[in-house]
Amino acid sequence: MRVNSRKDKIRKFMRSKYLMRRLIIIGVGLILIYILISGLLKGLFPSKDSNTKYPLGETEASEINSQESTDQSEINSESTEITNDQSDGQLTTETQESTSIGSETQEQPNTNETKSDTQGENIMSFNSVAYSLSSYDARYTAYSKAHPELTAEQVVLRVNTNLDQEFYTNITEAIDPNSIEVLCNKFYQLSSSFEPSELVSVKDGYYVQDGKSYLLSQSALSAFIEMSDAAKKEGVSIKIISAYRTYSYQENLYNKYTANNGKAAADRFSARPGHSEHETGFAIDINDVAQAFENTEAFQWLSKNSYKYGYILRYPKGKEDTTGYMYEPWHYRYLGADLATKVQESDLTYDEYYAKYLLKDHVD
Ligand code: DAL
Ligand code: ZN
Repeated sequence: MRVNSRKDKIRKFMRSKYLMRRLIIIGVGLILIYILISGLLKGLFPSKDSNTKYPLGETEASEINSQESTDQSEINSESTEITNDQSDGQLTTETQESTSIGSETQEQPNTNETKSDTQGENIMSFNSVAYSLSSYDARYTAYSKAHPELTAEQVVLRVNTNLDQEFYTNITEAIDPNSIEVLCNKFYQLSSSFEPSELVSVKDGYYVQDGKSYLLSQSALSAFIEMSDAAKKEGVSIKIISAYRTYSYQENLYNKYTANNGKAAADRFSARPGHSEHETGFAIDINDVAQAFENTEAFQWLSKNSYKYGYILRYPKGKEDTTGYMYEPWHYRYLGADLATKVQESDLTYDEYYAKYLLKDHVD
């Protein structure tokens, strides 16, 4: 009996051990199957969390932003070292012209039947466009061929603005450089010996840095004083931080930026010598050379009122492909109240406005 009961016990024990082993094998098998299935499901349907945590755009944007702020602080620390070497003894301190990423293309969708089709039968007549120039005909045709999606009007506007060519190619002399209408950009250059005829000193109280002296064209200065006084009455402070620059001053500035940032980057925010509007005596930088200036009361005030005093924002947001420069909320160009109002109402950059309404007086 005793022997039998021990045998029974051993048998029972063996059976339970066998069962346990089977249970362990089944359990491990189930865990492995669970891991496999959940892994597959995650791959196919990533969770919301993993989507919102590292969106590509955000990651890229923060990289760009941190890069920008690094560049900016480097540039700012450099910029105050630059002093003007003008022979007339005027001294100014230059501040960096800041950066912004993102330019939008200027081209509009094709909207009407004037669509160009130089390959087909309907070769469009550019002469019917009011602002076309017969001496530009070959360029219109070539540009239209390369951009069949554009209307005749769009082709003429872009070619008149020289945008069928690379920036800083086929450069010509700026037309009538002492006129408030003068166009100075990457295609129109002032000579190294040019000096505006009516430069006057900016009075104390109208520029940002004490102890510095700036020159500006008489008409631009009178209008600025009026504008600054009007803003002051509304509690807004508007002061000049950069005004007239000589060719050699611009040359030093551009070379400095090129050395610090590389040519391609410098070309986006600094004009090559002879190509800066500041050399005309009709351009000013206001308050703060930083993208953050856009968020100030002063900028809001200028956006609403500057044209009434003859000033326009020269390098607007999203127009880099047309102006050749990043958005510069601080850079204003004096055109006189009449012309500035027309440019403001046209919603064109000054480069385009000139190409559309003023160029024909000088060409053909
Ligand atoms: N920042 C403008 C483009 C200039 O250098 O004149
Ligand atoms: Zn400027």
